[in-house]
Amino acid sequence: MSSPVAELHMHIEGSLEPELIFALAERNSVQLPYTDLDDLRSRYEFTDLQSFLDLYFANMQVLRTAQDFADLTRAYFARASAGGVAHVEFFFNPQAHVNRGVPLHEVLDGIMDAVGTSEREFGLSSAAIAAILRDRPVHEAEEVFSEIIRLQTPIVGLGLDSAEVGNPPSLFEDVFARARSEGLHVVAHAGEEGPPEYIWQALDLLGAERIDHGVRALEDPALVARLVDEEVPLTVCPLSNVRLCVVDSLSEHPLRTMLEAGLLVTVNSDDPAYFGGYVDDNFAQLRDQLGLTDAERETLARNSITASFASDARKAQLLRG
Ligand code: ADE
Ligand code: ZN
Repeated sequence: MSSPVAELHMHIEGSLEPELIFALAERNSVQLPYTDLDDLRSRYEFTDLQSFLDLYFANMQVLRTAQDFADLTRAYFARASAGGVAHVEFFFNPQAHVNRGVPLHEVLDGIMDAVGTSEREFGLSSAAIAAILRDRPVHEAEEVFSEIIRLQTPIVGLGLDSAEVGNPPSLFEDVFARARSEGLHVVAHAGEEGPPEYIWQALDLLGAERIDHGVRALEDPALVARLVDEEVPLTVCPLSNVRLCVVDSLSEHPLRTMLEAGLLVTVNSDDPAYFGGYVDDNFAQLRDQLGLTDAERETLARNSITASFASDARKAQLLRG
């Protein structure tokens, strides 16, 4: 039996499987622009991040009520737990729902209901990170964050995602400073499609404790040295990188180069319903296509727990296996 893994980089809306899209459309009387499941699945060919985001946001229209968000989150917990995930810190995109008329409390109530019972139901500890859409106006981020704080939602952190190029971390300095002053952890997507400069900004201007993706750090030796020296975790998503054409194939993925450079790398699924698999699928394909060894898998599993925001007691428990 392999050691338990923590998943630190997944978007709960990205675990919306085609079958659930159709079931929720039926439940909520939403008219889908797809004839059937095969028609929907035929659209899962992406050329870059934006081509994926277009479908990701379009499919969210079926999520309406707290029950929908709770069902979505529990479906992911069940699948992740079956794949050996023992702890998860997942993103959700409040603006993506509020902006289409779903009250924020429906989103938060549903997600937090599932988080509250994950240990009992699935043996999985869990925590939610609100992620800011970086391609939306800064004031919108400030407003939604204020509302989350006003509602005293027990999120563990603030993150930054969506279309990266042209939307640098520097735009969001103030809202991240507020998050830190609220005692929240802060993380940011950087160096997926964007340049190493965005990783520097995430560290220096946002105070990011982890970098989500970060694969383009390898282009900047001084940045690699900094990330190694400060033991900044990078939440890498191998299958995502292939599907969004960040790398040409899994066999050419720089994961091993990153490990050998001494970076604190973890393996994650990002948007498992869209990119061909969950964390266990990522590990299985890395073994088959990159020759990932058991020892490397063990290092990655331990890294994921070390890099998590779980309590020291929970980390110790997970590291004992
Ligand atoms: N939102 C969902 N998945 C994402 C990714 N891979 N990069 C940026 N934003 C995202
Ligand atoms: Zn992501």
